[in-house]
Amino acid sequence: MLPPRLHEVARHVLRGRPVADIGTDHARLPVFLVREGIVPSAIAIDNKVGPLAHAQRTITELECPAVALRQGDGLQPLQTGEVDTVVLAGLGGAKIISLLQAWPALATLPRVIMQPNTGWVAVRAWIAAQRIGLRQETMVREGEHTYLTLVIEPGVTVQHPWADDDEALLLGPRLMASRPPAWRAWVAAEHARLGRALRRASAAGATDLDPLRISLARMKRHLASD
Ligand SMILES: C[S@@+](CC[C@H](N)C(=O)[O-])C[C@H]1O[C@@H](n2cnc3c(N)ncnc32)[C@H](O)[C@@H]1O
Repeated sequence: MLPPRLHEVARHVLRGRPVADIGTDHARLPVFLVREGIVPSAIAIDNKVGPLAHAQRTITELECPAVALRQGDGLQPLQTGEVDTVVLAGLGGAKIISLLQAWPALATLPRVIMQPNTGWVAVRAWIAAQRIGLRQETMVREGEHTYLTLVIEPGVTVQHPWADDDEALLLGPRLMASRPPAWRAWVAAEHARLGRALRRASAAGATDLDPLRISLARMKRHLASD
């Protein structure tokens, strides 16, 4: 069984085409994808020995030899054209950007699925600055946590109208349009969190409260139309 956040990633993988999972750790995603017949084969990459041993146990226990393990930094162990989908889940946004930028053949990849656990605004800003096609943007909740999934097409060049729009970079250009339940719950939680931060800062006598007020007003606008 995959957790909901990894199910969300699996939903966007190109069917019938090989996949690479960067920072695979337990290798549950690539093993699931192969066993369910979603992809014919997978390359599971991690830069550390412990996670790779964990991945090997999963592959052995679930008898899934079509998942190959490689040790290395980010996408570096991949040859150009070896896979059609690359997944980067459970890493920080800044790390994901640096791993993608370090791979010279990025533009040859039909699809990259990212699930950054931090730095969402920076990841969107990078997509916009690189003019990379943004195919999908979704949110799921798992327990107390909210997970953002971004599906990009590095081979597609697009001028994003939201590139300089702080509100879209914060809230997600596609999520603002589709307003799924997990996104609305996240907006409400962020609104409450910012309200608490503003009250605390104000009680502590902080003077420059404008940035907090602006963020709070932004969230409130999106609450209001629910
Ligand atoms: C939190 S786990 C995420 C595991 C899995 N992708 C998931 O979402 O459940 C992050 C994994 O990324 C690996 N990792 C961190 N930096 C890496 C890098 N530069 N190259 C490859 N793997 C890396 C870590 O060793 C760890 O196993």
